[in-house]
Amino acid sequence: MGIETIKSDDGREFVPVPVGKMEPGVKLLSDIYLRVDGKFLKYKAKGDFLEAEKLDFFLFKDLRNIYIALPELQAFMNWLRDLRTGVIDEVVEEIGEENRHLAEKREAIKEKVYDTFSDVEMDSGVAETLKEQVNEFIEEVKDLDISKAVLAKLIKHNDTMADHALNTANVALFMGMILGHGNKQVLEDIYFGALFHDYAKTKIPSEVLLNKNSSKYNQMMQDHPKKGASAVKRLENIRGEVIKIIEQHHENFNGNGYPRKLKGDEIFGLAMIVNMANIFDNTVMENQHKSKKDRYRMGIKVLEYDKGKQFDPDMVNRVLTGLKLAYGEFYIPPSDS
Ligand SMILES: [Fe+2]
Repeated sequence: MGIETIKSDDGREFVPVPVGKMEPGVKLLSDIYLRVDGKFLKYKAKGDFLEAEKLDFFLFKDLRNIYIALPELQAFMNWLRDLRTGVIDEVVEEIGEENRHLAEKREAIKEKVYDTFSDVEMDSGVAETLKEQVNEFIEEVKDLDISKAVLAKLIKHNDTMADHALNTANVALFMGMILGHGNKQVLEDIYFGALFHDYAKTKIPSEVLLNKNSSKYNQMMQDHPKKGASAVKRLENIRGEVIKIIEQHHENFNGNGYPRKLKGDEIFGLAMIVNMANIFDNTVMENQHKSKKDRYRMGIKVLEYDKGKQFDPDMVNRVLTGLKLAYGEFYIPPSDS
């Protein structure tokens, strides 16, 4: 079997495994290693757990692979297989034994999708599959009580706000997947972070919202990430990651965002995703009068323009590739003048 292995200085052989294959919070059946400056360092031992935050951190540091020592590869593959069977069994319990083939097919597609993240190349087939994955994921979470409660609040306040929250969640999930997030917990964090990102705006009186030049408006805008975070913190079962997304969704890569003027790596990666999705959807929504194609093209242009300013350039580059594949590579005709 042609397995790609890498030899360490002391002659041991290691096999790279895409980070997206790892499942957090499940007991490891083999040691896992990281490769730092060409050396293999044991990161977690057999029997340990890999926390979701760590996995998330790896993905955002663009660490594509973890490594398994060749003699332990079989144990690792068994771990993966058991995980997969566990997931399928869970789904089958819901949809019935007669539909097991559907559950299996779904898992196979997922694997295909996340496998691709170990390659740099994306193609339109993958982008399409990701779009389907986003829809499927949203189908699963949209009926949760918490989703309904927040949406009801947003809709009560303002329909546009609710639409924007849903669109942002949708786009953020897609971007998250492009960036290699396949883990359900991380995807849920992105989804809820995006859905709640402007939660505090429901508390801003509409006369203030309409008067964009007033100092009151400016103050309330400055405060909405923090206020939103503390309001959402009070809801039941909200994870710290979701709070962090809300707090940091206006922090910019170059440090000129708010409220804390964080920059570069100081910004939580999932918050950067929601920042990009938020701007993308704002641009799309502000241009309702234009054709759908033009609106998406403008959204893409804004992300491109703010690369390295508002947005992390590495993240934007990958996101743009995916967006262009999903929404079409838009040709901008040269102007006549
Ligand atoms: Fe916001």
